[in-house]
Order: sequence, then C-alpha cells, then structure tokens
Amino acid sequence: MKNKIIAGNWKMNKTIAETKTLIGSLIPLVADTNNTVIICVPFTDLATAVELTKGTNIHVGAQNCHWKESGAFTGEIAPSMLVELGVEYVVIGHSERRTYFGETDATVLARTNAALSAGLKPIVCIGETLAERESGNMEKVLRRQIVEGFKGITAEQLANVIVAYEPVWAIGTGVTATDEQANDSIAFCRSVFAEIYGEEVANALYIQYGGSMNDKNAAGLLAMEHIDGGLIGGASLVAEKFSGVVNAHK
Ligand code: PGA
Repeated sequence: MKNKIIAGNWKMNKTIAETKTLIGSLIPLVADTNNTVIICVPFTDLATAVELTKGTNIHVGAQNCHWKESGAFTGEIAPSMLVELGVEYVVIGHSERRTYFGETDATVLARTNAALSAGLKPIVCIGETLAERESGNMEKVLRRQIVEGFKGITAEQLANVIVAYEPVWAIGTGVTATDEQANDSIAFCRSVFAEIYGEEVANALYIQYGGSMNDKNAAGLLAMEHIDGGLIGGASLVAEKFSGVVNAHK
C-alpha cells in the first residue's frame, strides 16, 4: 500500500507574514503523519517556507517554472532558481495556467522536462472541463493530455513525477467529484499510463485527486484504490482544514 501525497496549492494567496503564521500552525498538526506533506506557495513565500519547514516533515513546492535555464523571459522563474532556494516540487500545467495563461500540452511538457532536469519533482495537472465531460469527451481529453503532455518522458523520469487529476468543474467550486467518479477517472488515467509505460510503472505512479477536496470529504476520497493523494486549493489555506486532509488517511 502506498502512503498518500497531500499537497497544498496556495495559488496567489498569503503574504510572507501570513505564511509564517500558517506554517507555524501547520507544523505540529501534521507532524505525526505517515503521508507526504507538500505546500506549494507563491514565489515570494518560497524562501520563508523553506526556512520555516527545515527539520520538519513538510516539503516545499513552487507553482510554475520556465523551460529555459535563463534568458529574456520577463516574469518567469527558472527551475535552477527554485532548486537554489531548497524547493523540491513544482506544480506544472494547473488548469488555471491552462485557462488564463495559455499553457498547452506542449508548454506543460517543456516545463516538466526542465523541472526534471533540474532535479525538481513536478506535480503535473490534468483534467477535463464540464463541457468536455458532458459531451462524452472526458477520456479523449485525458488521453490527449497524457500522451502529448508526457511525450518522451522516460519511465525513469516518471518515477519523480506526481500527476494531479483535477476535473476543472470541481476546482474552487465546492462541487467535489464523488469518490467513485474521481477513482474511475484516475483508473482511466492510470490505464493510459500503463499503455505507454507498462503496468508496473503505471501502478507505482502517484496520481492525486484535486478539486474542492477538504477535511470533510478527504477520508472517502483517499480510501479509494486509485487515489494516491490530493492537491488541495482552498482548504490548504487554513491549517486545521489542510491538516484534516493530511490526517484523514492513516
Ligand atoms: P480547490 O483547488 O481545492 O480550491 O478546488 C484545487 C486546485 O486547484 O489545485
């Protein structure tokens, strides 16, 4: 049985002062878990988060990185800059990046490759919109996101990747996929990975669920066979709620 990987995605929330308060509250609340705990914070909070979580079981991630090592890319951050700070993880291809910032499967792949080359562990997000689900295209979309978004990623590299299945209709809406819906979609994603990499690699791959996951619904979701953890947005901004998710699965 795998342990679970619970990652908080703070999105564009928390000043440095607020980060100090939240991490201070969180540390004792998640200290006893066997699950892996990650907080993905804004760039400006990374140094503080790394410093405050030293010697604890909390790992720190960023929310994006560029595919080039350096250069004329105003507003972007290179993977090596994150590594230098002590950051271990990076969210790639979140649906908000795909929707508002023009991310495509190709840019997701480029960022994932760069993150892996720098020694970061990418949390790569995939997921269908409501229109895609209702028109019967969910599997087609997920398959495309996997086939195009992981093109050329080797099995060895995949061991350092976490996939987050986040149905777009469930993100920040309070509408969670049912335990079965989430499990079925993740099982489908895993089957596509198995076609590419074989069963063993696909079974070892961590696939999280994300979308309105919180301390109330986490136990049910995390008990499902294919759900290896969660990517938590809103509920990760409150220490008691996020720790409730972390501690929902023993
Ligand atoms: P949510 O966000 O938990 O607020 O729905 C999840 C995510 O976007 O990663």
